[in-house]
Amino acid sequence: MKYKTLKGLQDILPPDISVWQHIESTAKNIFKNYGYQEIRLPLMESTDVFIRSIGETSDIVEKEMYTFQDKGKRSVTLRPEGTASFVRAYVEHHIYNDPAPQKFYYMGPMFRYERPQAFRYRQFYQIGVEAMGIDDPKLDAEIISMLSSILGSIGLEGLNFEVTSIGCASCRPDYKTALKKHLSGKLDEFCSDCRRRYDANPLRILDCKVPSCIESRKGAPPVLDFLCKECKDHFDGLRKYLELLKVPHTINPSLVRGLDYYTKTAFEVSSENLGSQSAVAAGGRYDGMVREFGGPPTPGIGFAIGMERIIPLIKDSADGNKGPDLFFCLLTEEAAEKALILAEQLRAGGMRVEMNHEQTSLRSQMRKANRMGAAHVIVLGEDELKSGEIAIKYMTDGKTKRSSLQADEIQKIIKN
Ligand code: HAM
Repeated sequence: MKYKTLKGLQDILPPDISVWQHIESTAKNIFKNYGYQEIRLPLMESTDVFIRSIGETSDIVEKEMYTFQDKGKRSVTLRPEGTASFVRAYVEHHIYNDPAPQKFYYMGPMFRYERPQAFRYRQFYQIGVEAMGIDDPKLDAEIISMLSSILGSIGLEGLNFEVTSIGCASCRPDYKTALKKHLSGKLDEFCSDCRRRYDANPLRILDCKVPSCIESRKGAPPVLDFLCKECKDHFDGLRKYLELLKVPHTINPSLVRGLDYYTKTAFEVSSENLGSQSAVAAGGRYDGMVREFGGPPTPGIGFAIGMERIIPLIKDSADGNKGPDLFFCLLTEEAAEKALILAEQLRAGGMRVEMNHEQTSLRSQMRKANRMGAAHVIVLGEDELKSGEIAIKYMTDGKTKRSSLQADEIQKIIKN
């Protein structure tokens, strides 16, 4: 085969696509109840959009962006995530003037040049949400509860919800100082990236995936111990409201996020069944980003679900791969013309109908109906056209029911 998908990319084919559609429609229904509206954002942005928000020293910006020069010699980047693009749009269209909270969701592909492995792709899909303009931790609890409800409604079980607070611009400097002090004596145990991060952004050392760095940073002080009063009150509020809403969760003081824009609340949902790529969804607050993009100070919070991580967990339970309600086996050209009309009438009535299109024996047509998973079969030939009577065969038990050649009677029988 001459052409293949690029490494880390994949085609999504039937029957998988029905699982994807099931997840998307479940999420959309829940978003409607919580007042989220869809927003569609470009797949590409000016590279600065991501550098300014995700952070120059993050893995994404340092190593994983698909960045190139367009024909106008501008540096553009395929979006590695949705929040930065969203905030760019939020500021560009002055959405902050609408009554808060402004709530949005998006679904679509993201691009990160990571080393592909199970559940980790270079093009992957997220369902993301962003809620703007409110810093009350009740909104944080509501959004985590909504995430729990989406994942529960698509049939995911045994997930671990971890939450923490990673402080804000006023308490973080103290934390950075304490962290640097803790790490200073053993810097040579860390990788060269981490040694560079020590000065540029020591918090990133907590997110390094190199095994020796993970080992060496054990015992580092948790940011939770350094929260200022405002962040501490906010986090206490979040915990109280999560209890009130009965969202099962654990506090993980060493939870770190790979994006620099987070403030206060950060959370991650993981599954034990995904090996090392265990995060199925993650999010948090980013109260400084709108201002960073030139808008008025506006708090924001959101999350994104990784589609490729949840699909394998629910594949077995999804019921999307059903065959047609009815398949027409056809013995003559006149019968095929009659079936063509009947099929259109039945589809207009909401039934899924297929008909045979090849000149093959009745036996092979029946075999085809079986392989497609048809629930019912009607054989149409000269006799049926002459008498105006047909037999509807039930493929589950082989029994038949008689009907006239009228679409409404066929539909009534099958739907009963
Ligand atoms: P993130 O943690 O970078 O957050 O990604 C969210 C989710 O996307 C991850 O938990 C994971 O399920 C999925 N994901 C990430 N990278 C890959 C990959 N290479 N292959 C497959 N799945 C992947 C964000 O992107 C933030 N924008 C979330 C957010 C929204 N925070 C606030 N608002």
